[in-house]
Amino acid sequence: MARHRVLTGITTTGTPHLGNYVGAIRPAIESSKKHEVDAYLFMADYHALIKSQNPDLVAQSSREIAATWLALGLDPSATHFYRQSDIPEIPELTWILNCNAAKGLMNRAHAYKAAVQANEEAGEDPDFAVTMGLFSYPVLMAADILMFNANRIPVGRDQIQHVEMARDVAQRFNHHFGEHFVLPKALVDDKVAVLQGLDGRKMSKSYGNTIPLFLNEKALKKHINKINTNLLEPGEPKDSDTSAVFQIWQAFATEQQTLEMREQFANGIGWGEAKRQLFELVNGELSEARARYEALMQTPSEIEQILQEGAVKARRESSAFLATLRHAVGIRPLA
Ligand code: TRP
Repeated sequence: MARHRVLTGITTTGTPHLGNYVGAIRPAIESSKKHEVDAYLFMADYHALIKSQNPDLVAQSSREIAATWLALGLDPSATHFYRQSDIPEIPELTWILNCNAAKGLMNRAHAYKAAVQANEEAGEDPDFAVTMGLFSYPVLMAADILMFNANRIPVGRDQIQHVEMARDVAQRFNHHFGEHFVLPKALVDDKVAVLQGLDGRKMSKSYGNTIPLFLNEKALKKHINKINTNLLEPGEPKDSDTSAVFQIWQAFATEQQTLEMREQFANGIGWGEAKRQLFELVNGELSEARARYEALMQTPSEIEQILQEGAVKARRESSAFLATLRHAVGIRPLA
């Protein structure tokens, strides 16, 4: 089978939660172990600056996200695991791509359009608080992808447009300067669960309804107990399909365990008992990784060393490729 270059970035603006784990981290680590996959996983800390002006939050999040991936079994020697800001070729390529990206294309980016629309609705200037970072966010993302000529980009639905923009920019560059870039494709896996949060909406930091991934046992139990349920008593049949408790169960359970829980719902399992079982299941899957995470968080120098090695490895490719690209656009030594 032909090898795929699979590349994913994680913006470092928050603490990983169960939704990130089920929707992105777990499938990415599984995929990175496949024979035919060359995995590129990185912390998008320059993207974080677009969303956050809080330096401590960005720094803390980078540490937590790196520790999370390593604790969950990402093998840095079998993958490319790095921090975007350690690869200076990425911002350099961003500029070159900026000179090839149509402004009209960027005008259509969802995140930018949503900001403008919110301003218009509030009677503000359309560009109020819109930074150039937000506007050219898709170009930085295109540089992340094209720098390593990745062809498969696993993303959530909200990021498909960005990958298509990267493809567009790559095509335009190739048209002018020769076939340098592979055209990337978004990979959306419909089997991967989009987890519900405490209030039943999609689990998301912006809704404040998350269950952080590596809570200690007591706090995890407490969060699970806060998941929204209805007022049905023990003994009354419950609808599994509309229950966040069941939905989270399903994301961690085997098929057999899922069938059994469905039956328990039909038979009227009490909410307290269902949540107790959910805690056991989730805690069972996470407890070993949690211990590794806590140890890593105590020794940031170990994480830093792994990231530095990752940068050296990634830059072997990026610095050679950027030299080719600079030459292609006419940035060349005079003699
Ligand atoms: N924009 C992505 C997000 O917010 C993160 C990201 C940055 C990314 N660069 C990337 C994802 C490159 C895939 C490929 O989720």
